[in-house]
Amino acid sequence: MKALGIDIGGSGIKGALVDTDKGKLLTDRLRIPTPQPSKPKSVLSAIQTIVRHFDYVGPIGVGFPGIVVDGVTRTAANVHNDWIDYPAARNIALATNCETVVRNDADVAGYAEMFHGAGRGVPGVVMIFTLGTGIGSVMFVNGQIVPNLELGHLYLRDQKKDAEYFAADRVREENDLTWEEWGDRLNIYFQHIEFLFSPNLIIIGGGVSKKHQKFLKYINLRADIVPAQLRNEAGIIGAAMAAIPR
Ligand code: BGC
Repeated sequence: MKALGIDIGGSGIKGALVDTDKGKLLTDRLRIPTPQPSKPKSVLSAIQTIVRHFDYVGPIGVGFPGIVVDGVTRTAANVHNDWIDYPAARNIALATNCETVVRNDADVAGYAEMFHGAGRGVPGVVMIFTLGTGIGSVMFVNGQIVPNLELGHLYLRDQKKDAEYFAADRVREENDLTWEEWGDRLNIYFQHIEFLFSPNLIIIGGGVSKKHQKFLKYINLRADIVPAQLRNEAGIIGAAMAAIPR
């Protein structure tokens, strides 16, 4: 099946047509810088631009960087507060004239990795983390998703802050951390995650996952920890998959 996948991020809104059965992009990605302030109205008009660019009519799946329940966005850590309690799926559908499903960005990226990437066929507890502007998280237990997990906001007592303000990729960039310094921070975070959840496998996604050789070596866990196979495309692919009922 074909669907349009859209990934709303803190810095870019990306879209592409996706073959949801193969888990592959059918077109190049179109990336539009996230409007600032990132209010719903401006983000919706970026989404309209993407839909028009692909001359698209059909189901749309959207990954959003916050909690999403029944198409309503409930939190907005890295986008404008007007997204809190916003009927996103309904309003995107009205703006584009396309049936729309909205889910958490990490949930859809994780879904794509479980079906088409590093988590395929892996039983037990698999956790996927996206390292970007924030830290997205999702857990699968024997293939069943636990949605809206929000472990990027796990409070790290010793650091006196949420994990994503300590170890997201944005923090590495903004503080000019070396790969080792950042890797040590990730190690603190993932050791705590391992203690809490005992996952069998951890998959690391987000744009920086293509540089995994520079930082995964600093993370010491019992669990396997591997880079996402779909890299930064997982968000778009998974969003499109969410648009097609299985
Ligand atoms: C949000 C999550 C999101 C993650 C990655 C966090 O700040 O709370 O919902 O998945 O960023 O975008």
